[in-house]
Order: sequence, then structure tokens, then C-alpha cells
Amino acid sequence: MANDEPVVGAGLVIRPMREADAAQVLAIYQAGLDTGQASFETVAPSWEVFIAGKLPHLRYVAADAGTGEVVGWVAASAVSPRPVYAGVVEHSVYVHPGCQAHGIGRALMSAFITAGEDAGVWTIQSGIFPENTASLALHEALGFRIVGTRERLGRHHGRWRDVLIMERRSAATGH
Ligand SMILES: CC(C)(COP(=O)(O)OP(=O)(O)OC[C@H]1O[C@@H](n2cnc3c(N)ncnc32)[C@H](O)[C@@H]1OP(=O)(O)O)[C@@H](O)C(=O)NCCC(=O)NCCS
Repeated sequence: MANDEPVVGAGLVIRPMREADAAQVLAIYQAGLDTGQASFETVAPSWEVFIAGKLPHLRYVAADAGTGEVVGWVAASAVSPRPVYAGVVEHSVYVHPGCQAHGIGRALMSAFITAGEDAGVWTIQSGIFPENTASLALHEALGFRIVGTRERLGRHHGRWRDVLIMERRSAATGH
């Protein structure tokens, strides 16, 4: 997908994330954090902190084609500055709580995977709590596999929690 080319389907547009999306993106992020199953983070950061380190060509939102309302987002960061890992990224995906289970996460991830492959990304990885069944199912459906479990990796609301590492190795890029 070219960086500025929107993908339209079933009332949904997938397009690059813009600064004007900040409030909606961060509100969706906070709603995901409030579930307690999305991340160790508990409070969404400022836009400046959020955007720092996110790869500019791998940030997308899903928006309602009619109203323009942002209903979900995906964004990735490089895992390392080392050249050998140039095609390895780590991502997050969040869908508005009122819009989940309507294929928006799948649409965002599909567009993101294609954009990543077009940009030379060969491995996408993410850390996911074992209790986050929706995210596990979404990622498994899109070709991610569980690499392993990192045990009691960090403390969340006072409780040590495991994290599953999932990754998708591209069959199209990095050969
Ligand atoms: C995880 C999340 C992004 C999924 O987005 P979504 O738009 O609801 O997912 P989709 O409707 O596109 O579903 C895609 C697939 O995921 C799976 N899935 C989604 N929700 C599910 C649920 N509640 N239970 C089981 N499987 C689920 C299904 O396999 C589905 O496949 P299908 O389309 O063949 O039914 C969304 O639930 C979310 O934003 N959660 C809060 C934030 C979060 O946890 N982010 C991930 C951090 S790792």
C-alpha cells in the first residue's frame, strides 16, 4: 500500500495516521489500557511521547468512511538500530471498544502487514498477555505464531504477569 493511498471497504478507510488524529488515537489507546489486558502501561502518554520512535510509514488508522471518525489504529517501532534487524518491527493494534468484533482489527493488521512487506519488513513481533484472547486469536488468524512465554515479566497493578511473544515471519520479504 502506498503511504497516502487509502484502502476503502465496507464503510471503512485505512489511511496513514496524522497529527490531527491524536486525540482519537490516544482515547482509543486509553480505552484499551483500561481493559487491563492490552499492555503493562496504564496511562496513555502525550502525543509527542506516543509518536516518538513510531515508524512514520507504518502508522495507520481505520476511519469511518462517512463520518471520518477514527475507530482503530496500528503502529510499529523498530526493535533495534542494528542493521541486521532493519526488517524487524514491534507493533500495537487498538480498536475502539464500541467497534470491536467487526473486522476492523483484521483490516488494520492486513493493511499493516502488506505495507510492512512493501517497505522491507520481514518480521513483525508483539508481546501479548495470555489472557488477551481476542488479540491472540486475531494474530493467529493473520499468520503470527507464539514464540514462547516470558514468565512474570513485569508487574501490572501489583501482579506479576506473563507475556506471550508472537511473531509473523514474512514469506514474501527477507529472502
Ligand atoms: C484485539 C483487538 C485489536 C481485535 O480487534 P477487533 O476489531 O475486535 O478484531 P476483528 O473483529 O478484526 O477480529 C479478527 C479476528 O480476531 C479474533 N477475535 C476478535 N475478537 C475476538 C474475541 N473477543 N474472542 C475471540 N476471538 C476474537 C477472531 O479470530 C477474528 O476472526 P474472524 O474475523 O474470522 O471472526 C481489539 O479487541 C482491541 O482493540 N482490544 C483492546 C486493545 C488490545 O488488547 N490490543 C492488543 C494489544 S496486544
